[in-house]
Amino acid sequence: MTHPWWKTSVVYQIYPRSFMDSNGDGMGDLNGIISKLDYLALLGIDVIWLSPVFKSPMDDNGYDISDYDDIAPEFGTLADMDRLIAEARLRDIKIIMDLVVNHSSDEHPWFESARQSKDSPYRDYYIWREAQPDGSLPNDIRSYFGGPAWTFNPATNDYYFHQFSTKQPDLNWDNPAVPDAVHAMMNRWLDRGIAGFRMDVIDLIGKDVDNKVLANGPTLHSHLQAMHQATLKGRDALTVGETWSVTPETAQLYSAPEREELSMVFQFEHIELTFDPVHGKWRPREFDLVALKHVFAKWQTELDGQGWNSLFWNNHDLPRAVSKYGDDGEYREASAKALATVLHGMQGTPYVYQGEEIGMTNVAFKVIEDYQDIETRNLFAERLEQGDAPDALMAAIHKNSRDNARTPMQWDASDNAGFSSAKPWLKVNPNYPEINVEASLEDQNSIFHHYQRLIQLRKTNPTLIDGQFKLLLADHPQVFAYLRKTDSETLLVVGNLSTEHLTVPLSDNLLSDSAQVLVCSGTSRTGLSQRVELAPYDAFIMSLG
Ligand code: GLC
Ligand code: CA
Repeated sequence: MTHPWWKTSVVYQIYPRSFMDSNGDGMGDLNGIISKLDYLALLGIDVIWLSPVFKSPMDDNGYDISDYDDIAPEFGTLADMDRLIAEARLRDIKIIMDLVVNHSSDEHPWFESARQSKDSPYRDYYIWREAQPDGSLPNDIRSYFGGPAWTFNPATNDYYFHQFSTKQPDLNWDNPAVPDAVHAMMNRWLDRGIAGFRMDVIDLIGKDVDNKVLANGPTLHSHLQAMHQATLKGRDALTVGETWSVTPETAQLYSAPEREELSMVFQFEHIELTFDPVHGKWRPREFDLVALKHVFAKWQTELDGQGWNSLFWNNHDLPRAVSKYGDDGEYREASAKALATVLHGMQGTPYVYQGEEIGMTNVAFKVIEDYQDIETRNLFAERLEQGDAPDALMAAIHKNSRDNARTPMQWDASDNAGFSSAKPWLKVNPNYPEINVEASLEDQNSIFHHYQRLIQLRKTNPTLIDGQFKLLLADHPQVFAYLRKTDSETLLVVGNLSTEHLTVPLSDNLLSDSAQVLVCSGTSRTGLSQRVELAPYDAFIMSLG
């Protein structure tokens, strides 16, 4: 079976502010990324997803764009971007960029004009409503970053709509000029040589604000189909939508090839399993492996042949995988490898978030002032005012703040973890003398080398791409095990996601004389026996022939 290239690829996400600083201002930049391309080539990844590098006042670290056609000066220039694309290409690495078009910055010239007068030609690029007759807000929609989703604009005596910060006004996709402008901009970037887009909160663009339908709104899929026709068609691009609202049914709408929308979407059900169902991420819930396995099994089964999965444990908005799902203490190395194994064994395109490949962990700053993330800061202030205890809030921040993912990349044991010669914009995690790239490269058994083996395996083993998924030991509370099956081969993937020594029984029909270990962490193995011994966080992928 031939595949589109993105089905056999592994994507590496870079959060540019925190990856590598080349000029000693404490902030990562494009030249810093270029200087680490050989490292990424060694890891074996095929694609870089670059979080936003466009011109921005950086209210939300670049997810608030004031010029879609220029690079933020702190990250470099357009010439640097061209060089990054070219240097990556020399190493067979493609670049996809972040498309942030649910909203712009309030400092985008469109909004600066729109907010001045009701007669501005850009007025309808945004969403405006008057106060209700009694003077109250147009409605009670709240912003994800705290406070109402409506902010008063004195010059026009009405309110603009924003689902994120007050500096991120939502664009009005019902005005055809908005999709037209976005399509033209996407084409300019694709012509420049990028290989596709990660689409920020793309499930919010089809909204109906008056009826309070935000995610998965009535015009979402027609917008995506129009976008595809105007930009992606014939380009062979990778597109991945960030869709917190997606279900397996709607994932097919986005990613079934004949519908010509996106290559795939990110679903977040496995992430939300650790959030309180009512109070959300600021009231964390313990992670339940049985529930997690059922979520993955559902997505694996329902998208098989009907669409395509994206596979990830973490990103720039989420806590570190090893801290959330593994053990970031004694079993940090083993649990990071086990998590990688069970994720990379599934069907879909795996995404590795910077630092995951060396097992970087969450951070626990003691004071709120050390946090930079707008969501963390706003929520802390809001909940404190509502009477939440500061200690409980800090504990929740330690678990789920987005800054867990954003501490600078740990390159070596030198000052500032080798990330910068200056004080970094966000403090480094104090564990960098132990956890860093240099140490991981020296050790053949490191997490890095385990990722390298998993990524290689995807390039050589077609069963990893096509094989049907079948969950084993579904209700086992500690072991995640499954098969991947094609007509010619069966793979067995097993991970012990606990700190206990276990023996698990396998059914007779799995036993085969030709079993061959493809990747293993922890215990070294040769073949398969009916009772599989698993050390804490042991994991392996075996071909059963
Ligand atoms: C997405 C991004 C997040 C950003 C938000 C608003 O969720 O991943 O970082 O704050 O959208 O753009
Ligand atoms: Ca810099």
